Amino acid sequence: MNLKGRNFLTLKDFTPEEIIYLLELSAELKAKKKAGELTEYYKGKNIALIFEKTSTRTRCSFEVAAHDLGMGSTYLDPTGSQIGKKESIADTARVLGRMYDGIEYRGFGQDIVEELAKYAGVPVWNGLTNEYHPTQMLADMLTIHEHFGHLQGIRLVYMGDARYNMGNSLMVACSKLGMHFTACTNSKYFPNDELVAQCHEYAKESGATITLTEDVEEGTRNADVIYTDVWVSMGEPDEVWEERIKDLTPYRVTKHVMENAGEKAIFLHCLPAFHDLKTKIGKEMGQRFGLTEMEVTDEVFESAQSKVFDEAENRMHTIKAVMAATLGLPEGL
Ligand code: CP
Ligand code: NVA
Repeated sequence: MNLKGRNFLTLKDFTPEEIIYLLELSAELKAKKKAGELTEYYKGKNIALIFEKTSTRTRCSFEVAAHDLGMGSTYLDPTGSQIGKKESIADTARVLGRMYDGIEYRGFGQDIVEELAKYAGVPVWNGLTNEYHPTQMLADMLTIHEHFGHLQGIRLVYMGDARYNMGNSLMVACSKLGMHFTACTNSKYFPNDELVAQCHEYAKESGATITLTEDVEEGTRNADVIYTDVWVSMGEPDEVWEERIKDLTPYRVTKHVMENAGEKAIFLHCLPAFHDLKTKIGKEMGQRFGLTEMEVTDEVFESAQSKVFDEAENRMHTIKAVMAATLGLPEGL
């Protein structure tokens, strides 16, 4: 399989075979790392990391993975460059494309990362936009595969805001890979009709199903994976909190939800999570709305069913695979 020169902007652009290939390469790179084998095949290459929103996992994954592959990296933070303020995306892309071998972009609209890719002349990797979070998908799929030994037929239920990057991306990934995707949430937060229709097309090929339901008991019964994300995403205005809390509290992941799914079910969350409201924003929102927990209870988050830290670790191995594959595989990989 040759993915050299490709961008990684959304899984919609990749066939199921290409996605499986990236997962296999991730597993191979993970095994090499665990065995202490060096993989510095990309010495002399450099990558740029543009972050217009904050990050812990994605930034660290790109930096560690680049270092492991022998590459240099430059981090451009949300305030420290000219991007989008004094300089257009097209000009930025053409400048960075002259200096770097690949560019990661985390920011707002998907159109921005598409524009960057159009002009860069080197692979562009989407590190999260409002619409999609494709590198997160590979980490999630690798984690599910490691746990269950397969992806085909897995029942994944997403609870929360299913119209945003995580809900959209999970629906795309599941429908491409023959998994059963359920968005279990208030109908205001169902993914948009156009994307649902597109995913139904993928599902016809793969044997996947897509279900949208407001019924928690029905929706989560016998699920293999219960997945949630923050109720308010980065870049959304503060005013939305009140309505989100009101609409989404019935869709919090509780012990009851996990019991309804069954003992074998696992809990996943892309993180960061509001599970104990001990963080700055968590405390503030907890006090303002009289809450002690948000999208997932601390009990579930800390339970044996929760695989969130395996999932977080897998961000690094999968991002390494995306960079290696799109920069072109050397001898030995
Ligand atoms: N899951 C994820 O993308 O985490 P960060 O925002 O910390 O990168
Ligand atoms: N929906 C979240 C995902 C964070 C990884 C956000 O966009 O903030």
